[in-house]
Amino acid sequence: MDKKNEKINSILKKVIKIVKPDEEEIKTINITVNEVMGRLQKIINKNVELLLTGSVARGTNVRGNYDIDIFLLFNRNLKESEMEKKGLEIAKKIVNRNKNEKYIVKYAEHPYAMLILNDRAITVDLVPSFKIKNASERISAVDRTQLHNQFINNNFNEKLRDDVRLLKTFLNVNNIYGAEARIEGFSGYLCELLIFHYGSFLDALKHISEIKLPLIIDIKHKNTIYDDKLSNEMVKKFNKDFIVIDPVDENRNVAANISKESLSIFILKAREFFDFPDIKKFYGPKYSNINSRAYINELKNRFNLDIYVIAFKIPDIAEDIIWQQIKKLKYKIHEALKQNNFNSEISFQNISNKFGIICFFINKTDNSSKIIFGPDILMKDAVNSFIKKHKKSVLFINENKICTIEKQEYNTPKKLLNAIIDKKIFEFPSYLSKQKNSLYINNIPEKYAKILNEILHIKFLT
Ligand code: CTP
Ligand code: MG
Repeated sequence: MDKKNEKINSILKKVIKIVKPDEEEIKTINITVNEVMGRLQKIINKNVELLLTGSVARGTNVRGNYDIDIFLLFNRNLKESEMEKKGLEIAKKIVNRNKNEKYIVKYAEHPYAMLILNDRAITVDLVPSFKIKNASERISAVDRTQLHNQFINNNFNEKLRDDVRLLKTFLNVNNIYGAEARIEGFSGYLCELLIFHYGSFLDALKHISEIKLPLIIDIKHKNTIYDDKLSNEMVKKFNKDFIVIDPVDENRNVAANISKESLSIFILKAREFFDFPDIKKFYGPKYSNINSRAYINELKNRFNLDIYVIAFKIPDIAEDIIWQQIKKLKYKIHEALKQNNFNSEISFQNISNKFGIICFFINKTDNSSKIIFGPDILMKDAVNSFIKKHKKSVLFINENKICTIEKQEYNTPKKLLNAIIDKKIFEFPSYLSKQKNSLYINNIPEKYAKILNEILHIKFLT
């Protein structure tokens, strides 16, 4: 083994010791699972089955960073809405309010309950679904989960389990672990499948660092599809060029939620790890104690751009929904900036601790006047109406077009963005419309600088 491989292996050994749950944690998990299962057993009827699923059932959970997933499997002849209702009723019944326990209704394709057992750090997801034997019987999207359990547990040994933990940790540090809208990254199940397919964390990382797209992995047949005709068909079918076919359902791409950006981050970070192996690549920026304001200030100066941050409190609703709304708002503001001739070179969004931020890096342009191009001189009527509309301005001919230059109402990004947050330009998406917004330019309070920095640290290679 050469020196570099030795170094990498010793890093991985150290990391696995840190991220694998220790005996005490496993004991706490078991006690919690038994207690919740016990409470459930007492109140469910014979037609409902309980199944421990997810990373705890498969031994692929990362220390201190997972949930307990318990599925309530209902008979397929029940109506879907009935099944949802019963699931939530059961969850409600087992919560012990005297112990300060509570449950929150969460939404995936259909609602489920998250139990918060006050004295414990771990939360328990109680997910109602239908009991099925194969994917063709599937009614709701989460029905596949019970089949995932079987596939992983039939095919995994302890080494593979540890390698999943390494992969989850590596992705998490780079903010690309999880299929939710905020992350658009790799789900826990996808991590398991990649480790199964490539055989180890290092082999998975190596392949990803040298990836060529389209990449189509057919897990069930342990096959990577290179055949051009077949891979074109797959790309068309799934409308993606990174496809991991679910071994329990050939019609599902487990990698469907991964954005181009998340995949790019993974590729680059994988290459970086091989070039400069370092245990620090398994620790996130959250653990470092940097001054976010100073970091952002330095970036701004090196870019020679101004930073504009809109900050607001976020309401207590499903994260996926609020994330999409912030994304939509960011896009609308970006378009408004463009229309007013301000170049927003790059933009970001993030949420953390009930606060959201949208950030634009904008060119230092003074936009006091703007050229407005009218129609081609040959288009007589259109030219006449342009002249009429702009009769108070100076008109001139530029090549074949009639033009004018007009003073801009919003001649600085600050004026425009203030008008936007006062809702003078357009309506905000529903859940953001009632939130109070503040605009900060360059001098960003540390509280918001931190939230911005979480995302900048991932995306910037400095
Ligand atoms: N699941 C899925 N696709 C998703 C999310 C979840 O198929 N986008 C299924 C998987 O079978 C997964 C299970 O639901 O294992 C539980 O989901 P989750 O708790 O999100 O993932 P875990 O694998 O348990 O990972 P973690 O350790 O982060 O809890
Ligand atoms: Mg889980």
